[in-house]
Amino acid sequence: MKKSDVVQTIFQQHIPAIPQHEKGLAFAPTNIALCKYWGKREVELNLPVTSSLSISLPDKGSLTSIFVHDKPRDVVILNDKEVPDDSPFVKRIGQFLDLFRQERKWYLKIDIKMNIPVAAGLASSACGFASLVTALNDLFGWSLSQRQLSILARIGSGSAARSLWKGFVEWHAGVQPDGMDSFAEPLPFTWPELCVGILSISTQEKPVSSREAMQRTVSTSVLYSSWPKKVGQDLSIMKQALHLKNFTLLAGTAESNALNMHATMLSSWPPVCYFLPETIAAMHKIWDVRKREGLDLFFTEDAGPNLKLLFLDKDKEKVLALFPELEVIKVFDPE
Ligand code: PMV
Repeated sequence: MKKSDVVQTIFQQHIPAIPQHEKGLAFAPTNIALCKYWGKREVELNLPVTSSLSISLPDKGSLTSIFVHDKPRDVVILNDKEVPDDSPFVKRIGQFLDLFRQERKWYLKIDIKMNIPVAAGLASSACGFASLVTALNDLFGWSLSQRQLSILARIGSGSAARSLWKGFVEWHAGVQPDGMDSFAEPLPFTWPELCVGILSISTQEKPVSSREAMQRTVSTSVLYSSWPKKVGQDLSIMKQALHLKNFTLLAGTAESNALNMHATMLSSWPPVCYFLPETIAAMHKIWDVRKREGLDLFFTEDAGPNLKLLFLDKDKEKVLALFPELEVIKVFDPE
């Protein structure tokens, strides 16, 4: 099955290509996985081996404006700078847009404003594709459902399936070969006291893309076979923790899940190691303060060296005293 087949299934026959407004506009938040997506059962469609669960950061993400223009190519502007045509970033966007260009060849000016570093393990591709597909829906008046947009965002970048919503989100792995049952949905929990702190260690582009690292892990890590079982357990514990509003259970399970994911990467060959010395130093600091003072502070880490700290509002001052450079984000608006 090809990506274009998925697009055909969603649109049936005809993909509307007449702009309904002067511009399409959408914001999509970045999302941090508490239970990670790591490994694909089908590479072309980004179909995951397991389900996953994330939390969206409300004001961090990508604001995308798109305009149809007369030039015979797409022009991408990222944070006010035009990105060269031959860059992988522009090529990836162009290939994605080609899926929606049928008989009428339209080209876009795409203006992306991102307030997170690009390709540094802060889910820039997730919010990027989610906002692009939502902006297309707006510009061409497609009136697609959030579920359909989640499927389309997923074929751009797997974790983008989850960036269609705020709050807690679950991406169902699905079982169908065409992936029509592999979409994300919001979970009905709010947690106003929950804080995520971004501990920025490096904003450099990562040396190995998550796409490449995932494939390498699936095909070479002997530990990978234990990963689906671990995710199954963690997902059910996390949902229980959300029901019980048990922070220690939720955040502890998230930390364990992230470390298990990194263990599968470390055991692949050539090894994939996103940790920098500063990442490990920060982990030790967290483990130490948890042990010595009983502080409820945990972390998660994605395909990059930066940590995302998890804690409750009541501990914010203590956490900031330990990590003064931390950017603290309240995930939910106060009730
Ligand atoms: O969607 P991708 O290809 O950027 O992969 C995301 C992988 C992780 O961020 C490490 C985990 C996740 O679930 O977001």
